[in-house]
Amino acid sequence: MRVVIAGGHGKIALLLERLLAERGEQAVGLIRNPAHVADVHQAGAEAVVCDLEAASAEDAAVLLSGADAVVFAAGAGPGSGAARKDSVDRAASALMADAAERAGVRRFVQVSSMGAGQPPRPGTGEVWAAYIAAKTAAEADLRARDLDWTILRPGGLTDAPATGKIRLAAPPVPRGTVPRADVAAVIAALLDNPGTGHQTLELVGGDSPIAAAVQSIS
Ligand SMILES: NC(=O)c1ccc[n+]([C@@H]2O[C@H](COP(=O)([O-])OP(=O)(O)OC[C@H]3O[C@@H](n4cnc5c(N)ncnc54)[C@H](OP(=O)(O)O)[C@@H]3O)[C@@H](O)[C@H]2O)c1
Repeated sequence: MRVVIAGGHGKIALLLERLLAERGEQAVGLIRNPAHVADVHQAGAEAVVCDLEAASAEDAAVLLSGADAVVFAAGAGPGSGAARKDSVDRAASALMADAAERAGVRRFVQVSSMGAGQPPRPGTGEVWAAYIAAKTAAEADLRARDLDWTILRPGGLTDAPATGKIRLAAPPVPRGTVPRADVAAVIAALLDNPGTGHQTLELVGGDSPIAAAVQSIS
């Protein structure tokens, strides 16, 4: 399987690239900073420089030629303002989904966030509200497309080691945290189970082994 990962130098992306490489799959990380190429190679993936805030859908579609799946794992990240929540968390996801349609790559896993799909709570800061609005709009964009999409909404991300145990279900799932390593393993399992298409799933730490949890919702 050839998997193109948007935001290929992100923390989840690097963990996913390593998992896919260990399984003998081909991962391709799209990055915007050429200084990140070595890290992506070290994770066992190909690196392609593509700034998702500057590329066109035609440009991105060329990069998807021959791919079996797209994972959108990019994000403007902490420290960014409302404008980049829109240009990355919403617009770059829509760009990749547009590119996937153009390239005929049907499988698309989007990393969204718990909190998406609802109005931000009263008193929420401007940047958080913009983040939730961007994730909500990116989800809506993807659902409207003729793709085999899965929207994955993790809870608060941690850098703790993988536990292999999760709670994964359609919303609403009570808030919680989840290690990025487990998120990466869930994405790999979603790619293995195309029956998880057309589902929006929330993810926190839990008691269910990842493979069983993913198979149960396939
Ligand atoms: N933090 C949380 O608790 C939480 C909870 C739920 C969901 N999420 C979501 O989970 C996703 C992944 O999380 P993570 O921790 O792995 O994120 P991360 O480490 O911040 O990685 C995001 C990646 O996106 C890349 N990116 C940003 N703008 C780009 C552009 N224009 N072109 C190409 N790449 C670009 C960044 O590259 P640069 O290094 O060049 O900036 C970075 O490598 C994000 O969408 C995040 O919103 C986060």
